[in-house]
Amino acid sequence: GEYTFNEPALGALKPIFAPSSEPESLQTTALIQTLALLPHVEGGYFSQTDEDPKTIPSPYPLTPLSGETASQAVPPRPGFDAAVRRLSTTIFYLLTYRRPLGRFHRNRSRIIHTLHRGRGRYVLLHPDGRVESFIVGNAVERGERLQWVVEGGVWKASYLLDTEGNMASEGAQEPEGLLISETVVPGFEFADHEFLSERCLEELVPEKAMALGWLARK
Ligand code: GUN
Repeated sequence: GEYTFNEPALGALKPIFAPSSEPESLQTTALIQTLALLPHVEGGYFSQTDEDPKTIPSPYPLTPLSGETASQAVPPRPGFDAAVRRLSTTIFYLLTYRRPLGRFHRNRSRIIHTLHRGRGRYVLLHPDGRVESFIVGNAVERGERLQWVVEGGVWKASYLLDTEGNMASEGAQEPEGLLISETVVPGFEFADHEFLSERCLEELVPEKAMALGWLARK
């Protein structure tokens, strides 16, 4: 469909809503409170809703994946044991008008995503430098996705789009947030998580780094 392409025209990848420290709308604030969401370091909001606490030996190196910039590494949770992983974790993840983008990061584990509400764009950077982008939303007839899987090691960013029918006049109405679930197997640990530095972006996609920089910056 017109909204799904493997090599996007990078001009199509533009921020729609600017991050802001202004308060969220009453409706969004109510959703955040109802789901007990907290600000996520990637951008947006999240809450872990499930974990399978059974553990398996970690399939990963004992050393954490940490970014080029040590200041970007997030410390492990209390009680983290680098030798094991929980079987799975699941979170709600929400992008809002005020926190409208999740900046480029990767996880060692594959992540299964499911849409609940709203609309957004995902941008993936594969290890070979291929850029993939697609829209997640309810219009499956137009190629929007309800489920998407991001393999371990793939850089991922996402940003909020307006829902169809809310675009008549620009900025007329605050968009519904993008609410999804993400399940990580084995379970999420910051040791398996890494942000994309601008230097790394430059190395991975030299000709596209300019167009994608806004999704990498804090
Ligand atoms: N803690 C901080 N970020 C995350 C995340 O993305 N997933 C889970 N399960 N826990 C987290």
